[in-house]
Amino acid sequence: MIHLNDIQKTYEIGKHPFTVIKGMNLKIPKGEFVAIMGPSGSGKSTLLQLLGGLDSPTNGEIFIEKTNIPSLSEKELTYFRRRNIGFIFQNYQLLPTMTVAENIAFPMEAEGISKSKQKRRTAELVQAVDLEDKINFFPSQLSGGQQQRVSIARALAMNPPLVLADEPTGNLDRKRGTEILNLLDRLHREIGLTIVMVTHDPYAARFAERILLLKDGEIQSDSRLAEGVEDHVMENLLAKLNA
Ligand SMILES: Nc1ncnc2c1ncn2[C@@H]1O[C@H](COP(=O)(O)OP(=O)(O)OP(=O)(O)O)[C@@H](O)[C@H]1O
Ligand SMILES: [Mg+2]
Repeated sequence: MIHLNDIQKTYEIGKHPFTVIKGMNLKIPKGEFVAIMGPSGSGKSTLLQLLGGLDSPTNGEIFIEKTNIPSLSEKELTYFRRRNIGFIFQNYQLLPTMTVAENIAFPMEAEGISKSKQKRRTAELVQAVDLEDKINFFPSQLSGGQQQRVSIARALAMNPPLVLADEPTGNLDRKRGTEILNLLDRLHREIGLTIVMVTHDPYAARFAERILLLKDGEIQSDSRLAEGVEDHVMENLLAKLNA
């Protein structure tokens, strides 16, 4: 579903080029749940932004299914993103003046979906994230975990095949974080959602099937978390991460 071909991202700071992603190649099949780990500044968020078309590479191709997203115009990209990619952020990024229902329906409103369809889909989504009793609440009236569940529902509103999450449990305690991770894991298994999740937390990464370790803008390791070998894989990864 995702294919990165020799991706490079260089920022010009004054007259000095600074390369954040260094000729990266990567394939992520449809339906995979991938975690991206790595030290601060290793390029995790930059990679996620590139995958989501929120930023453009200096060189290389980024295919999502058959679309090479850097080749799209700004308008085509906005349309593509709204239909194909759901975003989840560490700080939820909900609209404070909108209710839970309005926040969830926001991507459908932007796409001109009929009010009756919006209402039906929103009802399904609040049920999926277990927030039926909060539908008319505002974000400020919700806990962090509840706000993140709203943002997951919003990410899924248009039924995108791909969800990109940057530190989705970064602001949550273990209990609320686990609820979010279980929810992502369930969506991944039940609807075959492809998930790419950036995380610092080895506990969160264990919910994925595959862990990419970034270092200085390169993939340092690419590991599979098959049943029974998780402890061993994580030990190796943490040793590399702390080296
Ligand atoms: N707009 C920008 N202009 C210049 N440099 C940037 C820009 N955005 C990111 N960088 C640099 O790119 C590098 C990677 O940043 P990135 O945000 O991808 O790191 P990260 O792995 O997500 O780190 P963290 O774990 O702290 O979130 C950093 O050195 C950062 O300073
Ligand atoms: Mg980051």
